[in-house]
Amino acid sequence: MTPGPLERAHNVITVNRALPPSPPAAGEVYHQQFRVAYEYPVHFTTDVFDPANPCLVSAVCRQGTPPRPLVVVVDAGAARAWPGFQDRITAYVAHHHRHLRLLVPPLTVPGGEAVKADPEATRDLGRRLLAAGADRHTAVAAVGGGAMLDFVGFVAATVHRGLRLVRLPSTVLAQNDSGVGVKTSVNAFGVKNFLGTFTPPYAVINDLGLLATLEERDKRAGMAEAVKVALIRDPAFFAWLEDYREALAAFEPAAMHTLIRRCAELHMEQIAGGGDPFERGSARPLDYGHWAAHRLESSSAYGLRHGEAVAVGMALDTRYAVEAGLLGEAAAARVMALLGGLGFALWHPHLEPPAGGGPWPLLDGLEEFREHLGGELSVILLADIGSPREVHAMDPARLAAAARWLSRHYGP
Ligand SMILES: NC(=O)c1ccc[n+]([C@@H]2O[C@H](COP(=O)([O-])OP(=O)(O)OC[C@H]3O[C@@H](n4cnc5c(N)ncnc54)[C@H](O)[C@@H]3O)[C@@H](O)[C@H]2O)c1
Ligand SMILES: [Zn+2]
Repeated sequence: MTPGPLERAHNVITVNRALPPSPPAAGEVYHQQFRVAYEYPVHFTTDVFDPANPCLVSAVCRQGTPPRPLVVVVDAGAARAWPGFQDRITAYVAHHHRHLRLLVPPLTVPGGEAVKADPEATRDLGRRLLAAGADRHTAVAAVGGGAMLDFVGFVAATVHRGLRLVRLPSTVLAQNDSGVGVKTSVNAFGVKNFLGTFTPPYAVINDLGLLATLEERDKRAGMAEAVKVALIRDPAFFAWLEDYREALAAFEPAAMHTLIRRCAELHMEQIAGGGDPFERGSARPLDYGHWAAHRLESSSAYGLRHGEAVAVGMALDTRYAVEAGLLGEAAAARVMALLGGLGFALWHPHLEPPAGGGPWPLLDGLEEFREHLGGELSVILLADIGSPREVHAMDPARLAAAARWLSRHYGP
């Protein structure tokens, strides 16, 4: 038989018995190709660990033969606010023993940004999953805020190259934004979200009752993401936020629940329909106000919550658009009035340009934002409420004018 090349039939490559004696000629390319479809349910419920509530069972038992192995990890900040919570989880699983099997009693991990910044925490949770005997069929149900979910998600995505993560977000921000999305991360080498993966969760359960014990600042911080997504995607939602501003500022549950549902829907639509769920391009279409926010979070040593920093970042970019002649004063006034009315500060000392000239540390945030995705700088600005515009440069003089304007109106 003549030595022949690889043969392809119906996209399957078969190898001839007699292989060519030398490597293929330069320029020969095999186009490997396959697709993986992702889908995951996002439940909205209350009292997820009431034995009568079937959400967790149906979220975990979607494939395979029950009982499914399960590890539950709880944010220590949340656990402190819920005495007896771990016992409730254990009792829930015992009640559903035909479907669920707890490998170890519920674990706790620290909550907040500190857990993302501690490399030992990653190893420690990995070690505990190893000791529990977690395998690729194990579901890891993580109950906590956005930081803890990013952290547990990263560990779950990398242990055995991927356990099944069921998120039970327990902050407003995590329920309406990060928890329904596809990203996991930890901070490393002083850079936020430096190590991470795009890993869709196995399921998400938004238990609106979990939010009752949140500190007021965490209830408020998550609302910044709703203002953000309304501004760039849904002017009718923005008008609704204006109408319900007082109820939201008072954290009335019915208004909060509507805000969370609509905000989560808009984030899910972007992931499924935006054409770039794993952010391979340079655009960050939902990250309005985020370049300055990331900088303010790190320069304040995470003294600002993510949502609080996003509110300041949106105020800055809104005023910048006015300075640049892109956005009208009246629309900008509506943005400031809504953010201020929800109780957000619209100024931070780290916004200030240096009094005597010289380098302005805030501007490093633009370069850091570009570096994270690589390629061209891409920042979202507003031409109107609901009308985003992508720009690829920001003018430092106009930014300084915007920062000074915020300082005059909302500063000390
Ligand atoms: N993955 C993504 O797509 C994405 C998107 C946006 C933000 N994030 C990340 O999310 C993080 C911010 O998350 P966050 O705003 O939810 O804050 P957080 O996770 O820092 O939580 C704030 C505090 O609330 C506590 N807590 C959580 N739930 C509680 C409850 N029900 N009752 C009482 N206390 C509770 C936590 O222990 C913590 O101390 C940041 O690290 C940010 O980078 C990720
Ligand atoms: Zn955000």
